[in-house]
Amino acid sequence: MVEIGFHHRIGGRHDDRDLGAESGDIGHGGRGASSSGPASGRAGSRTIAGTPAPRQPGGLAEKPPMHYHSRRIDRLRGPEGAPSTGGGPMSDGIVFIDGEYMAPEDATMSIFDVGFVWGDCVYDVTSTWNGWFFMLDEHLERFQRSCEGFRLENPYSFEEMRRICAECVERTGLTNTYVKMQVSRGVPPPGVRDPRGLKPIVLVYAVPYVWIWGEEKCRDGATLYVSGVERVSSKAIDQRFKNYNRADLVQARLEAYDNDCDDAILAGPDGFLSEGPGFNVFVVKDGKVASPDYNVLEGITRRSVREICEREGIPYELRKVRPEELEEASEVFTSTTAGGVMPITGVNGKTIGNGHAGIVTSRIQSIYWSERAAGWHGVKPADILAN
Ligand SMILES: Cc1ncc(COP(=O)(O)O)c(C=O)c1O
Repeated sequence: MVEIGFHHRIGGRHDDRDLGAESGDIGHGGRGASSSGPASGRAGSRTIAGTPAPRQPGGLAEKPPMHYHSRRIDRLRGPEGAPSTGGGPMSDGIVFIDGEYMAPEDATMSIFDVGFVWGDCVYDVTSTWNGWFFMLDEHLERFQRSCEGFRLENPYSFEEMRRICAECVERTGLTNTYVKMQVSRGVPPPGVRDPRGLKPIVLVYAVPYVWIWGEEKCRDGATLYVSGVERVSSKAIDQRFKNYNRADLVQARLEAYDNDCDDAILAGPDGFLSEGPGFNVFVVKDGKVASPDYNVLEGITRRSVREICEREGIPYELRKVRPEELEEASEVFTSTTAGGVMPITGVNGKTIGNGHAGIVTSRIQSIYWSERAAGWHGVKPADILAN
């Protein structure tokens, strides 16, 4: 089988739209599915990377003993202070794929990986701010649930994933980062459709922190369009598992751009609001905050919004939210890892409130960022690596 690497640059200049930067669209770095040695599959873009032996089905059925992986990570860490990619801190980003750390432009992945071909891939996104990971374990736990939900086996343990995330961040030398982890099912032998027994590809990367709508709009306000595209039912794909089946979200966003809005919000099959392409949504009415309870990813940022509300005595509930409630609300806001707590100043061309972030939104947003800067629910990458 000839493995053709494909390449998608994820480092360098970050335009949020180009990246489609919500926690789903920064694209596969890409790495040959082969594990036939460090040199293979490392060629840059549009290269034919070699002829790796096809994977044997059942390969992952026997999970390698933990010490194997630990040793591998240690080996890849290289001499102290010396990134395996060579040179100094990789401020454009660092990718960990198939057991190695490398620069984004060196990361390639097989076009035959069914994560790409079938969208058979789960992921999660966490971040660091001011040098602190935020709710890292909560992200890792959700990632584990997503893997289990998709029957994907992550060969790395919880603790190993923590270390890999920390290592990626440390190697970038950055304090504010966007950190993605994903598992795709792998490459079946030619002609094989059976998804069982493949060797999953684990990819983790850290790049400079991403704002889904650019920093200004994430902080000051963006506009939403209530899409005619229905969010895929959780009965078809359980949206609590963070996954790459996002065609509905992409089509909705295109529709939003056609209507001069910054992004879309989708209703589920029951007609109630679900979520947008990469964020949860909240309405504020009579001082009460409400967010859709079903057919959504249970956002980690949403969890932190709830915590702030409870602490500040702001009534908060998860419930069914009608699309019309957006325009009826005194405030609307959204939440995501790649942007935090983000005000919505217009829906379908109608101004919300006075067209600026509302009082409740601003309060939650300012607590969120000041607490994050101070290490709320935080752990430092260096402390993870020191243990
Ligand atoms: C579909 C969807 N909903 C909600 C969110 C927000 O989740 P979190 O706050 O955990 O980033 C995301 C994040 O990317 C998402 O992709």
